[in-house]
Amino acid sequence: MAADAATATFRQRLAETARDVQALLDELLPSPETAQAPRLARAMRHAALNGGKRIRPFFVREAARLFGEDSALDARALRAGAALECLHCYSLVHDDLPAMDDDNLRRGQPTVHVAFDEATAILAGDALQALAFGILTDAATHPRAGVRAQLVAMLAHASGEAGMVGGQMRDLQAEQQRIDNEHEIVAIQRLKTGALFDFALRAGGVLAEADEDDLARLGAYAQAVGLAFQIADDILDVEATAEELGKTPGKDAAAGKATFVDLLGLDGARTKAAELVEQARDALSSYGDRADVLRAAARFIIDRRG
Ligand code: IPE
Ligand code: IPE
Ligand code: MG
Ligand code: MG
Ligand code: MG
Repeated sequence: MAADAATATFRQRLAETARDVQALLDELLPSPETAQAPRLARAMRHAALNGGKRIRPFFVREAARLFGEDSALDARALRAGAALECLHCYSLVHDDLPAMDDDNLRRGQPTVHVAFDEATAILAGDALQALAFGILTDAATHPRAGVRAQLVAMLAHASGEAGMVGGQMRDLQAEQQRIDNEHEIVAIQRLKTGALFDFALRAGGVLAEADEDDLARLGAYAQAVGLAFQIADDILDVEATAEELGKTPGKDAAAGKATFVDLLGLDGARTKAAELVEQARDALSSYGDRADVLRAAARFIIDRRG
């Protein structure tokens, strides 16, 4: 596929996933009319149904699609993607809390603790996390219990101490003590952001019954893309407007965050992100044209404005 065609297909598939994830989450999230705790249900819906690029569910689906175009497989990948999105939305709600990044704007809306209150935001995050695992364990996600258990174990690893939450801890600790080595910054970004990307790509592979070599290739792509994604986020924090971002820019420098922009400057960070995109694209070379859309996605990661 020519590069322009792959980019157009990527945009179309990302838009499709955004629409499909929205519809599925609308179904899976508790409804305030029937919920045990209607206020909590409203806060969860505020966190999960208010936009977002849905890039992680896109990656689950697209990784599965590498191994075959099959509507049952695609429906399973969409469910695993929706579970991952719940986990991601929980991480954003907690990330925005006053005790963490203290942000009042997210996806162009007031953050959950602003629209509701802090306790409700903590609980909404907790409940979104539980929902994520609940979605994975439902037989609709995969008929075989062993595959569901594997996905649960993978998400537990990616989101816990050795993944996203561990990275968030080190990100906050780094505010107190400036980090001036690339190795440590890479480690933080891999944990806090890369781990969920790793889950996305590998989950797609697991659902498609890909072999270990395929999963390793997907993991290599995810590592490079995840790191590039966080570097791009850090560049946008400096360069983009609140309107483009849907969140308040300029917060990282103010908080003294450990970022590639802080360490290498904007140009150095851009060069690093571009190198990572090439690495990501190379990781998929054995798939030929089948991986063109994933290659276009890697470029989008650093070309985006929000
Ligand atoms: C923001 O993630 C948090 C980071 C890991 C940088 P996204 O940029 O994917 O946020 P949404 O889901 O599109 O709002
Ligand atoms: C957040 O990184 C990563 C998470 C695990 C949520 P950031 O703190 O840079 O994300 P934004 O910029 O608030 O979206
Ligand atoms: Mg943060
Ligand atoms: Mg933040
Ligand atoms: Mg950021």
